[in-house]
Amino acid sequence: MSVPSIEAVNLSKRYGSFSALSNLNLKIEGSKCVGFLGPNGAGKTTTLKLFTDMIRATEGKALINGVSVHENKKKALAPVGSLIESPEIYPALTPREALSMVAEIRGMPRSERKRKIEKVVAEVKMEEWLDKKVGKFSKGMKQRINISAALLSEPEILLLDEPSTGLDPRGMSEVREIVKSLKQKNRLIFMSSHLLNEVSDICDEVAMIDHGKLLVYDKLSNVVSRFSGADGGAIIIDVGLSREIDDQTVSGTISSFPGVVSAEKLEGKNLRLHFSGGIENQEKLLSDLVMMKIGLISFHPSSSALEDTYLNLIKATL
Ligand SMILES: Nc1ncnc2c1ncn2[C@@H]1O[C@H](COP(=O)(O)OP(=O)(O)OP(=O)(O)O)[C@@H](O)[C@H]1O
Ligand SMILES: [Mg+2]
Repeated sequence: MSVPSIEAVNLSKRYGSFSALSNLNLKIEGSKCVGFLGPNGAGKTTTLKLFTDMIRATEGKALINGVSVHENKKKALAPVGSLIESPEIYPALTPREALSMVAEIRGMPRSERKRKIEKVVAEVKMEEWLDKKVGKFSKGMKQRINISAALLSEPEILLLDEPSTGLDPRGMSEVREIVKSLKQKNRLIFMSSHLLNEVSDICDEVAMIDHGKLLVYDKLSNVVSRFSGADGGAIIIDVGLSREIDDQTVSGTISSFPGVVSAEKLEGKNLRLHFSGGIENQEKLLSDLVMMKIGLISFHPSSSALEDTYLNLIKATL
């Protein structure tokens, strides 16, 4: 059996003089789940749209299993299921009816439709809702039906653009569990996300992009160990204040607290501290900040090594 792969070769997309994606070279091969991380406007959706021929590349190629998406769309996209910009399902339809329409549009033989629809709806754990009207569904349930539509052709490659974005915490966790369960032998999943905890929970590898440029692509564990110690093992602590703080207090008093490597003002009334001082100093730092009466309202040490890595990398490209 062949190994599924997607590959971008010098893939670029410009809108006028604006570069939405710049010379992306990325080859993902094998049965795995790869998280595609990047802030708003980084170029994630652009990349996924290029891989599904929804938009044309300005330069370069997108290849699926070695076949050019642009030159041979039908063949290239045959093994692909995608969910990009979740469509609204007509509320008066049931999942069975909506998926029948999708199957028909895709030219699936009538004799196969019933069995395949029931199978994909079971894969997203919506069997009980197969014949109920979509209008009554939560956003998370609708998104699971959208995912089931991407599964109809039994794809070995799944391209998902932020599948859990816009859902409430329960919906997010439901969709996350579904994506996890879709990881299987001989399936490659490439999934964009803003959510670091989601990617570290589901994915085996991470590609990070910002300003249309690939920053890193590697195994999750390698990315974390390669970059998280970039500034002496410092973690990032985001501090929220209820009022403005003057520069001198930040660069003087706060920067000199034990363990604080650097302190900077962010937009609004937020501070970002690079901190490398262990849990006791962290406790002391929090109480020192409270004592300063600067209107402290939040104190967020970054939750994971991946988050540190991400923030460090993104900062480096600003
Ligand atoms: N049709 C278009 N015309 C002009 N600029 C565009 C167009 N589509 C996208 N862009 C720009 O290209 C950049 C990359 O957009 P893209 O949608 O790929 O980002 P993204 O990483 O998916 O962001 P988000 O996390 O917000 O979904 C953005 O700056 C966006 O404004
Ligand atoms: Mg996007």
